[in-house]
Amino acid sequence: MGAFPMKTSWVQVDLKRLAENIRAVRLALRPPTEILFVVKANAYGHGLVPVAVHAARHGVRWFGVAYLHEALQVRQVLPDVRILVLGATEPSDVPLLVGRRITPVVISEKHAVELGQAAKSMGKTLPVHVKVDTGMGRLGIWWEDAGAVLDRLGAPCGLEIEGLCTHFATVEPRKPAPARVQWERFAAASAAVEQRVGGRLFRHVSSSRAALYFRDWDVDAVRPGIVLYGYGAADPALRFHTKPILQWKAHVMQVKRVPAGFSVGYYSQFTTTAPTALATLSVGYADGYNRLLGNKGVVLIGGWRCPVVGRVSMNWITVDLGHDRTAQEGDEAVLIGEQRSESIWAGELAAACRTIPYEILTDINAALDRRYVE
Ligand SMILES: Cc1ncc(COP(=O)(O)O)c(C=O)c1O
Repeated sequence: MGAFPMKTSWVQVDLKRLAENIRAVRLALRPPTEILFVVKANAYGHGLVPVAVHAARHGVRWFGVAYLHEALQVRQVLPDVRILVLGATEPSDVPLLVGRRITPVVISEKHAVELGQAAKSMGKTLPVHVKVDTGMGRLGIWWEDAGAVLDRLGAPCGLEIEGLCTHFATVEPRKPAPARVQWERFAAASAAVEQRVGGRLFRHVSSSRAALYFRDWDVDAVRPGIVLYGYGAADPALRFHTKPILQWKAHVMQVKRVPAGFSVGYYSQFTTTAPTALATLSVGYADGYNRLLGNKGVVLIGGWRCPVVGRVSMNWITVDLGHDRTAQEGDEAVLIGEQRSESIWAGELAAACRTIPYEILTDINAALDRRYVE
């Protein structure tokens, strides 16, 4: 801790639990299906490098990122793992992709041609995975066009087509039809591409929810993100069961006893109805604590659930401890995590903000101190 230990909030990541989560998913998969761990967006807010290093130590051999700069960070610390860039790359990235053995996806014919030309101009062949759009409507070559695109690319095109992937738009175990349609489209595109390439490709389609509910689609790898961070697989009856690994904490900076009728925060959006104790904490929306949590959020102090009162400020929030309770300056407050018998996880904050745990986690400012415990 620095000279002002109460100044900022901090994140604590439980690496032992991360290893347990990886193990839970791995035990559910049938070899040779591998885990391609999605660590984009700063490992969903958990800290890219420490998470990737620990996952590799526990046997993860493939990592998925959105951008080349994230891939380079992983490569710097893990010289031997496979890294897939799930987003767009540019021809000017090709020297680094080749030099650092980073695999991009190709998302369109134009993209494939440009990357291939850049590789050829270096006298190299760039290994790639073809991203097929089977209904997500986001990145990728439309599934019906995949065979024809391969024909037009011809050979040698500067690319070595090693893999093929798609991404599900809707995974609803009680209404599996849309995901089934996507799977069938993927199977058709795979057959067309594998016929042109003249061999089997490394195929991966399922992210967390699909892996959880549809084991037939595991193929060569699955691409889980959120379940390895401990969300979406809380039910022990499911295919695998994982637990949240990130806690977010702040300090109590000031405690005041106040009478009824006391107003709190910008535009006095909360007024006490009875005498109580208020605590101000070192976290605000600039740290990623969502503004929608004003008058809605809850934090843990002393093992109690304390409501956030008034608006969330840029760097501070105020919570109501209650009349009969108190806290000391410097006490630990839990924004996400566990304290005594209570817990607040990102899912609860997400529900209060009408969003998803992914957004709550990735919003946590990357500059905050992240502490890793084993
Ligand atoms: C292409 C792709 N694959 C896999 C994932 C991982 O998804 P999840 O965190 O739901 O497992 C993502 C996440 O956004 C993605 O974009």
